[in-house]
Parts: sequence; C-alpha cells; structure tokens
Amino acid sequence: MTGETTNERIDSHTVLYGVVGDPIRHSKSPIMMNRAFRETGINGVYTAFHVTPESLGDFVRGIRAMGIRGVNVTIPHKLQIMDLLDEIDAGASAIGAVNTIVNNNGHLVGYNTDGIGYVRSLKEEAAPDLSGKRIVVIGAGGAARGITYALLQENPSEITITNRTITKAEELASSLEGGAVKLNAAASDRLKDLCEGADIVINTTSVGMFPNIGESPIRGEWMKSGAVASDLIYNPLKTTFLQEAEARGCKTHGGLGMFIYQGAYAFEYWTGQSAPVVAMRDSVLVSLQV
Ligand code: ATR
Repeated sequence: MTGETTNERIDSHTVLYGVVGDPIRHSKSPIMMNRAFRETGINGVYTAFHVTPESLGDFVRGIRAMGIRGVNVTIPHKLQIMDLLDEIDAGASAIGAVNTIVNNNGHLVGYNTDGIGYVRSLKEEAAPDLSGKRIVVIGAGGAARGITYALLQENPSEITITNRTITKAEELASSLEGGAVKLNAAASDRLKDLCEGADIVINTTSVGMFPNIGESPIRGEWMKSGAVASDLIYNPLKTTFLQEAEARGCKTHGGLGMFIYQGAYAFEYWTGQSAPVVAMRDSVLVSLQV
C-alpha cells in the first residue's frame, strides 16, 4: 500500500468498510474514503472487494459475520443485492437500486446515495436553488433514474427526460410521476428545442466519455446563455458538451462531484459525522492525475 491509502492507526479496534463490485480494481473509492477517515480521525479502513455475482450471498453473510460497518455497492450488484438485505430505504426502493449498505449490529439497511449525491453536488457547485427550474435529462438508464428521483424532491417546475430509445424515457417518466412536478418524456430529435428553453441540461449517457472525447449529446449552441450544463462523466473532467456550453456562456458542472458526494452521504450514514468533501475531492483529483 502507498502512503496515500494507509491509515496511520490500524489496530484491534479498526472498523472495516469497503466497496464491492466486479470488476473493482479501477475504483477510486478506497483512496477517497481512507482520506476521509484520516481527515476526521476515525479509526476505520476501507478496501475493495472483488466479488462475482455467484458469491454475492456469501459476501453479504460475511458482512454480518465480520461486522463490516459499511459497504458501497457498484456494478453489477446494485440490483441483486437488494434481495439479500434486511431493509431498503424508501428512496433506494423507488430507484430500484442500492449503492450503500449500513450494518446496524447485523441488520443491513440499503440506501441509494447516487441521486442525492448528484443533487447536492449540483447545488453546491452550480445551481444553489433548483425550485422553479426547467430541467432536461438526457438518457433514461439507471443513472437517469436515480438523478430524476432526487431532482423531483427539489421542486423544479418541470423535468423532461429525452432518450435515443423513446419508450425507455416514457417508462421512466411514468414510473416516477405522480408528484407536483411536471415530468415529461421526449424523443431525442426534440433536444434542440428543449435545450433552448432549459435552465439546466444534464447528460446521463456515456456520449463524450473517454475514449470518445470528441462526441457530445447536444450542440453547445442549443444552450441558453447563463443556463447550467451538467455532465455525469468525469473522464474527461470537462467533456466536449461542457466545453461548448462554457463557450456559450453557461455554468458547467462535471461528473466528479456526484462521485464525491455519493461517497460523502455514505460516510455520513456510517459515521454520523460530516464528510470532509474538500479533502475527498483532492484525493481523487490527485489519483486521476497519476
Ligand atoms: P447507466 O446506469 O450509466 O445510466 P444504462 O442504464 O446502460 O447506464 O443507460 C445508458 C443510457 O445512455 C441509456 O439512456 C442509453 O440510451 P438507450 O436507452 O437508447 O440505449 C444512453 N446511451 C448510451 N449510449 C448512447 C449513444 N451513443 N447515444 C445516445 N444515447 C446513448
């Protein structure tokens, strides 16, 4: 282990945490979370568990047996793990995916911090007040679902989900509608019009992600000057979509914040302490540069 990931004190009181996925060795979560433990002086250590779908049941029994206090869950286990837990938080249940487990003395509770992590980062970094805003979400997959669910709690005036496959946008909109916010679905060929009228445009697709860094889900000139362009992608940190929107006079919001804040919420659920988000972001930025 390098100095960056080693906590100063590991002893017989150290509490274990980790992230489970398949694959997992690319994960930046251990670097970020161990930095958070060091920064707050919590005697915890966070590692990466490579677990295949066939072994997930054994892994969950291991959480209980070993008293692992907290686990983050990533691809491909976010759905399958739900059946193995004792309780699912209402938000995670509505989203249909769990990314965080809290172990309360053997009682395992599943949460989803992806959507709320995204919204907290959007508010802190680009758009402090989302109420009354017109929002366009591009894409209708798992990430769009978590984000749209969390955005609905912020009282925007309307959210329109657009997708290459319109039926998926319609399914997502109808499964989450019912509150006070207008929730629409639209085909991708309406993006130009929709972006021209939007206060916030969010890309949840992989269009523009490394190595296809020249691609963008929309043209920057479709954005209203002063609007917010937000991209879930964090490799690259500033996608072509964000670069073009910035040139157009928009505020931009990259995907790194969602990763940091989903981890910040998990840290807060596990420890009851405020997450040291500045240090967490710094540790991830450093690790991305090496
Ligand atoms: P995630 O969990 O990251 O959201 P996902 O559930 O596989 O991943 O969803 C990916 C989303 O990106 C989908 O909305 C997908 O569109 P389709 O439903 O039409 O497949 C969208 N997407 C992926 N690649 C795309 C591309 N090249 N152009 C447009 N949309 C794309």
